[in-house]
Amino acid sequence: MEAAAALALRLLVLAVAAGAAGAAGDGCSRGCDLALASFFVTPNQNISHIASLFGVTNYRLLTTYNPNISNLDFININTSVHVYFDCRCLSLPTAPSSTYLAGSLPFQVSRGQTYTTIADNYNNLTTAEWLQATNTYPANNIPDTAVVNVTVNCSCGDANISPDYGLFLTYPLRDRETLASVGASNGFSSPSQMDTLRRYNPGMDNVTGRGIVYIPVKDPNGSYLPLKSSGQPLSFAS
Ligand SMILES: *[C@@H]1O[C@H](CO)[C@@H](O)[C@H](O)[C@H]1NC(C)=O
Ligand SMILES: *[C@@H]1O[C@H](CO)[C@@H](O)[C@H](O)[C@H]1NC(C)=O
Ligand SMILES: *[C@@H]1O[C@H](CO)[C@@H](O)[C@H](O)[C@H]1NC(C)=O
Ligand SMILES: *[C@@H]1O[C@H](CO)[C@@H](O)[C@H](O)[C@H]1NC(C)=O
Ligand SMILES: *[C@@H]1O[C@H](CO)[C@@H](O)[C@H](O)[C@H]1NC(C)=O
Ligand SMILES: *[C@@H]1O[C@H](CO)[C@@H](O)[C@H](O)[C@H]1NC(C)=O
Ligand SMILES: *[C@@H]1O[C@H](CO)[C@@H](O)[C@H](O)[C@H]1NC(C)=O
Ligand SMILES: *[C@@H]1O[C@H](CO)[C@@H](O)[C@H](O)[C@H]1NC(C)=O
Repeated sequence: MEAAAALALRLLVLAVAAGAAGAAGDGCSRGCDLALASFFVTPNQNISHIASLFGVTNYRLLTTYNPNISNLDFININTSVHVYFDCRCLSLPTAPSSTYLAGSLPFQVSRGQTYTTIADNYNNLTTAEWLQATNTYPANNIPDTAVVNVTVNCSCGDANISPDYGLFLTYPLRDRETLASVGASNGFSSPSQMDTLRRYNPGMDNVTGRGIVYIPVKDPNGSYLPLKSSGQPLSFAS
């Protein structure tokens, strides 16, 4: 009885761990070039700096991905900006056969920075633990002039879930937000749409206010980009 319960619990834990890990494209063999990140703007942050964190040198290129912001020169704090980045299939430095989908954004560190202070720039789009896992420098020995790869997870879609979605927003849940609430504000609210969202986000169904979810989003032309068929890269806005 007790053994059976323990086994059931172990299986549940394994299932949840496997599900959560699969969310960011574990075991990928290729990326999809384009993903969006939802960057929550806090005081003293400006758009050119936010764009530069993602390697976007001209922040005006973000205009088409932010149709509800009338002037990027005046972004309000406590709102979110969509920033695009290259979603690649990467592997862990310590386990080259473990692949996952993410952007890898070069970040020039300054003296005394830690993975925590580096991650802080990205407003919960990544964590100190994930930076440590995806960079070769030990946490207590980041050289003063190092370039650290800031790893921001992404999704490219999944042929087993739907052929209709190929562009995803990486969205860090904020206070009181859930997969359902963020889905609803992005046009996913019917039971079947919610079911689709749950399948893209295993293990995130009952989570509130923490972790990352992946939401299908429309391209600048106002339509969902279908899942990329093999060998056909999506292009960035120019
Ligand atoms: C990114 O995805 C990997 C692999 O699925 C996961 O282990 C890691 O915790 C994720 N990082 C963040 C910040 O969500
Ligand atoms: C934008 O923010 C960065 C980083 O906080 C700062 O160094 C820069 O001076 C700011 N630029 C403007 C125009 O406010
Ligand atoms: C932003 O949100 C914080 C925390 O909820 C709040 O204290 C602050 O007044 C807000 N600022 C603006 C300009 O909305
Ligand atoms: C634009 O819309 C998104 C989601 O629909 C929202 O999260 C964001 O805060 C909005 N931005 C502004 C400036 O209203
Ligand atoms: C990041 O997450 C922490 C903990 O949930 C929260 O307190 C903080 O306000 C978040 N930061 C941003 C910029 O959203
Ligand atoms: C950052 O990524 C590049 C490849 O994209 C790799 O050559 C380099 O070693 C990485 N840097 C660290 C500190 O892991
Ligand atoms: C999430 O919550 C629902 C309703 O409370 C429950 O039926 C379901 O088992 C929960 N799912 C997980 C993965 O905990
Ligand atoms: C938007 O539509 C135009 C005209 O059909 C096309 O040339 C362009 O590539 C589309 N842009 C995106 C990002 O799909």
